[in-house]
Amino acid sequence: MASPTDLQGRHIVLGLTGGVACYKAAELTRLLVKAGATVQVVMTDAAQQFITAATLQALSGRAVFTSQWDTREPNAMPHINLSRQADAILVAPASADFIAQLAQGRAGELLALLCLARPVQTCPLLLAPAMNREMWSHPATQRNVAQVAADGAVVLGPAAGDQACGEVGDGRMLEAAELLDELVAFFQPKLLAGRSVLVTAGPTFEAIDPVRGITNHSSGKMGFAVARAAAEAGARVTLVAGPVHLPTPRGVRRIDVVSAQQMADAVLPLAPEHGFFVATAAVADWRPVQVADQKLKKDRSAGAPTSPPPLVLTENPDILAAVARLPAGQRPWCVGFAAESEHVVENARAKRLRKDVPLIVANHGPSAFGSEHNTLVLVDAQGATELPRGDKLTLARALVAELARRAPEVQR
Ligand code: C5P
Repeated sequence: MASPTDLQGRHIVLGLTGGVACYKAAELTRLLVKAGATVQVVMTDAAQQFITAATLQALSGRAVFTSQWDTREPNAMPHINLSRQADAILVAPASADFIAQLAQGRAGELLALLCLARPVQTCPLLLAPAMNREMWSHPATQRNVAQVAADGAVVLGPAAGDQACGEVGDGRMLEAAELLDELVAFFQPKLLAGRSVLVTAGPTFEAIDPVRGITNHSSGKMGFAVARAAAEAGARVTLVAGPVHLPTPRGVRRIDVVSAQQMADAVLPLAPEHGFFVATAAVADWRPVQVADQKLKKDRSAGAPTSPPPLVLTENPDILAAVARLPAGQRPWCVGFAAESEHVVENARAKRLRKDVPLIVANHGPSAFGSEHNTLVLVDAQGATELPRGDKLTLARALVAELARRAPEVQR
């Protein structure tokens, strides 16, 4: 989820064109405002058949523009003023007809007019198409979409699924929360463009029997934030996640695993194809030697207290150390995380040498697990640097910036 400062200071022109998905634009307006943006809504005539300007005015806190003949602007040029003030124009929903107008450079209504009049270098245009699946797949629409993309527009979605008409297929507008994430990501600097990042996240679960196991309190939030921040920075991201209930960040490839062995089996073949490896997972150090086929039962037959079954443990593979031992050329630039309960920096220093990795990110485990906030200390060969305390996404973005700065030699 975006933080209240993710769009702070950004002025967004939100354009609505005709489509049932206009109902999602109301929620989107609310989310953009909550993320700190000022939102200027512009509606076409068709959009006003689906939702009223009053609703969007109330949610954005600004009077809506619907006509190029609006006399509120002293210079009578709303298309110039609106497009010069905007940090971005987001059209959601963007109908087939509206995309066709853009493709042809037509300017029959205020919204198309201001898209045409925008300074292309400084005012990006993002489109969230929404239409029936046949309209979307029609060659004319596909031709128009390719044309507006070639002309510099960023096309977000559409998604596949149930449609208002009862059909199922491509053409659903992305959800409001997804569009918010896309817009936030759009504004992040592309520090890892052309790079790839492999991330492990969450706890592992080591089965004792079919219903019980050994695990820990890791929520996965830090690793998911790292995956999201790397994707926002333009990297190709693979996230290998232990058992957690977190949504997959947009644009991230996710592989779910349960045990440490499964995590190792997923990570090791993928590591050589990635430029960076960030191991945030709280991997269980040990697993039971034997997993019982059936649930272990207390035996009360003798009437006396039963003795618990012996639990014999064996060590799990150290995934980070194994990746760090890959031969040069196959080895990504490795970052470990160290959740300590005391002597955070000293332990991190020792861990960095033991695992032979260039960077360990240390944090105080008990206070970080499950929390939205964290404090990170970067420990490398030069020493220790503390990042300012913040929410996990802000810290993850700072870490991504550090990776880009410290490892300019990583080219994949
Ligand atoms: O080994 P220790 O838990 O102290 O080190 C933590 C770091 O090592 C984290 O980056 C964690 O993801 C990684 N690790 C691993 N495989 C293990 C244990 C830890 O990748 N079996």
